[in-house]
Amino acid sequence: MRIVLLGPPGAGKGTQAKLLTGRLGVPQVSTGDILRQAVANGTQLGREAKSFMDRGALVPDEVVIGIIEERLRKPDCAQGYILDGFPRTLPQAEALSRVLASLHASVDGVLSVEVPEEDLVERLAGRRVCRGCGNMYHVDTNPPLQAGRCNTCDGALYQRDDDKEETIRHRLRVYRDQTQPLVAYYDKMGLLTRIDGRGTIEEISQRVHRALRQR
Ligand code: AP5
Repeated sequence: MRIVLLGPPGAGKGTQAKLLTGRLGVPQVSTGDILRQAVANGTQLGREAKSFMDRGALVPDEVVIGIIEERLRKPDCAQGYILDGFPRTLPQAEALSRVLASLHASVDGVLSVEVPEEDLVERLAGRRVCRGCGNMYHVDTNPPLQAGRCNTCDGALYQRDDDKEETIRHRLRVYRDQTQPLVAYYDKMGLLTRIDGRGTIEEISQRVHRALRQR
């Protein structure tokens, strides 16, 4: 299954993608994670991407399209994947169609996870991520058992540089201007299902499964 998860920052795309990979046995492909890894490794890609990411802007299309093209050709993507955070612009969506066509494949479904803006700010400002295994927590709604440490691997938890309130608000504007038009784009193609992203993680996961069963 080749699924695209659309939705604003903090909608829960990463959270739901991780649950889906467990259930469907296909990898999560997150351009945000790939870029953050490049930043952490200090590669040329990371140095180039960091200034865009820190201010909540999108990394240029040609850079991200190159990353995704290489990633989707890897053997673990042969049976499908969950695209989390890509595409984010019309040129990226068109590039995805071209890459898939060259692989004789297509997108099976696009889920747009929808959450009111004030909830998004609260979710992101409270998010903490494990440096070791990438598990996600929230200081109020999903705190770790021991402050600052991951329940699974005991790794240190950190706050993403772009999860400061001012940067979050900018990321939300960028989403409205550049990514939201993709909702109509995929709707026109008959691929879109809207998911109410309010409620518990488990409730949303059930909605996601219902939507995928109907595809
Ligand atoms: P990226 O890493 O993709 O960030 P994002 O899209 O802003 O999304 P987030 O990871 O912030 O949110 P999410 O929807 O995954 O929510 P999550 O599950 O984590 O991109 C970062 C940057 O990289 C971009 O700004 C850009 O610079 C660059 N980039 C990446 N892709 C790009 C592309 N294609 N083109 C150009 N540039 C690109 O959940 C958030 C929080 O909420 C967590 O704390 C979680 O525990 C909590 N939570 C989740 N579900 C619930 C729930 N149901 N109830 C309560 N809390 C919940």
